[in-house]
Amino acid sequence: MRYALVGCGRVSPNHIKAAKENGFEILSVCDIDDRHIDDMFSRAVECGKENIRRYSDFIEMYEKEKPELISIALPSSLHAVAAIEAIKRGIHVIIEKPMAMSIEDADEIIRLSELYNVKVSACHQNRFNIAVQEMRAALEKGRFGTLSNAAITVRWSRDKSYYDQAQWRGKFESDGGTLMNQCIHGIDLLIWMCGNGLRKVYGATRRQYHPYIEAEDAGTAVFEFENGVIATVEGTVNVPGGNLEEHLTLIGQTGIVKLGGKSANAIDVWRFSDDPNDTKDGFHEKTTSVYGNGHSSLFSDVADAIKNDRKPYVDAKAGKRALEAVLAIYKSMSTGLPVELPLESCAGKDFEGMFD
Ligand SMILES: NC(=O)c1ccc[n+]([C@@H]2O[C@H](COP(=O)([O-])OP(=O)(O)OC[C@H]3O[C@@H](n4cnc5c(N)ncnc54)[C@H](O)[C@@H]3O)[C@@H](O)[C@H]2O)c1
Repeated sequence: MRYALVGCGRVSPNHIKAAKENGFEILSVCDIDDRHIDDMFSRAVECGKENIRRYSDFIEMYEKEKPELISIALPSSLHAVAAIEAIKRGIHVIIEKPMAMSIEDADEIIRLSELYNVKVSACHQNRFNIAVQEMRAALEKGRFGTLSNAAITVRWSRDKSYYDQAQWRGKFESDGGTLMNQCIHGIDLLIWMCGNGLRKVYGATRRQYHPYIEAEDAGTAVFEFENGVIATVEGTVNVPGGNLEEHLTLIGQTGIVKLGGKSANAIDVWRFSDDPNDTKDGFHEKTTSVYGNGHSSLFSDVADAIKNDRKPYVDAKAGKRALEAVLAIYKSMSTGLPVELPLESCAGKDFEGMFD
């Protein structure tokens, strides 16, 4: 697989590692700041960096290198333009979350990917966590029975030094707050486990302790799904003293699973009435950060989707669902009313100044 990377910041070593682990031919990388490329290589796995060409303009890189697949790890407001320019050149794309910053951009990515028959995957890599895969397998076997309710909690910590790393962080137009940046992985899992049909959202968000950012540092929501399932969302970066936990609980008539750990990488509760002796409580997948181990599996899935001309496991429509859910929470907060989905038109920048 002839591969190139766009954006060489904080998360980029995970992309290089995933490309390397999947045996991709890493042609080139692109960043407007050459020092970031150096820094990435110093943090990435050994990947033969001497033979990897460097660009500062991703369009020039697409034209010259003609990769089959790129992954985009740019500031979130640049995801759409970088993806659209690639798709129009027939290049398959993995896009970091959130897939775009507006419904219009997400729709355009989906439309063009179908027009050009290009695979697009949203990088919600936690779907490949072992614990998440176990929950999903039990769900697909029908072991939960009729679902009742679910909950995601993402209780992490980000201080001023994190937001100071780059201008785009914490702004509604380019990043959003903790729901759009950190909690969106959990929101993706929640929607996926609850059947995808999110219909109504009640949201309440606050900027509590980070006055130097524009968006929320804590957010809560209630979700209603078309199949009758109800769910809650809690996301915060206000935990003192470091990341605490990411929990996902799914309750059905004949089963409950509560995933835990720092990034839904553990199983705290595993209980099914069809087999009381079946226990997975205490399982814990080792990870080195809250990004988890899923990038490599996601890259592998996309390569296989390209080879076999099938949909990626986490496709562009899934990326749009998670984005739309967060935008709906923001809209509910700004209007004080519940919000019905689908959203016709909405963008992060619509909420600029919400807490001023
Ligand atoms: N999946 C995950 O677990 C995960 C984890 C962290 C970040 N992310 C997402 O990945 C994306 C990047 O996050 P990050 O923390 O690595 O950000 P970052 O700011 O550390 O990195 C972004 C990089 O893009 C470069 N850049 C900016 N404009 C550019 C342009 N026009 N052309 C080329 N390069 C450009 C910057 O110089 C920087 O090196 C964000 O969308 C973020 O939400 C995902």
